[in-house]
Amino acid sequence: MSDGIRAFVFDAYGTLLDVNAAVKRNAVSVGEKADAFAAMWRSRQLEYCWTRTLMNRYEDFWTVTEEALDYTLRTFKLDHDKNLKARLLSAYFVLDAHPDAREALTRLKDSRVKISVLSNGTNPMIRAALEAGGLLEFMDAALSVDDLKVYKPDPRVYQYACDTLDVKPEEVVFVSSNTWDLAGASSFGFKAARINRMQAPPEYEFATLYSEHRSLIELARLVG
Ligand code: 2OP
Repeated sequence: MSDGIRAFVFDAYGTLLDVNAAVKRNAVSVGEKADAFAAMWRSRQLEYCWTRTLMNRYEDFWTVTEEALDYTLRTFKLDHDKNLKARLLSAYFVLDAHPDAREALTRLKDSRVKISVLSNGTNPMIRAALEAGGLLEFMDAALSVDDLKVYKPDPRVYQYACDTLDVKPEEVVFVSSNTWDLAGASSFGFKAARINRMQAPPEYEFATLYSEHRSLIELARLVG
């Protein structure tokens, strides 16, 4: 493999898995503000990871996902509907895979690089969603920050992937749709590859990207 690349390590939520799938499946119940609801749920979920890390008060990703959902339901005055909360949470457990993920992983697997997920999600969340999306079979490892009790973008998390896969940082292409995650990965020493489906502008420009792609299929062209 060219450029000394020995492994592709993927973020899960937003990169391989459609993070908005739980709201999309319940769009009728959430109502016309479903997009804003999904965006707030996601942004609070991430914020709670980072603030809890800074406060040294780690709780796992399932807990912060529920805390973020509670706040979002209250904000949109949907907290009276306990059944909706249960449906959204159970849908989050098995989010849809992005439609191009299987084909891209097939191409990467054929090139004999190591493939892994490295996610803030818990082990049961990651495994269930990857299995439901038919992606688990491609993984040499499915790694959760819950093993370390600290969230990305703490460098210890990226080091965990190197230790598990037995690779050096510069031998890893780290793939994410999340710019904060790419900045962390690049600062650590990974080759950071951005999946930019919506053609969003550059962000965290102090952290250099290795490559940028409109889709996971386009990413797979890195291996020929
Ligand atoms: C992850 O999968 C939260 O998208 C983030 O780690």
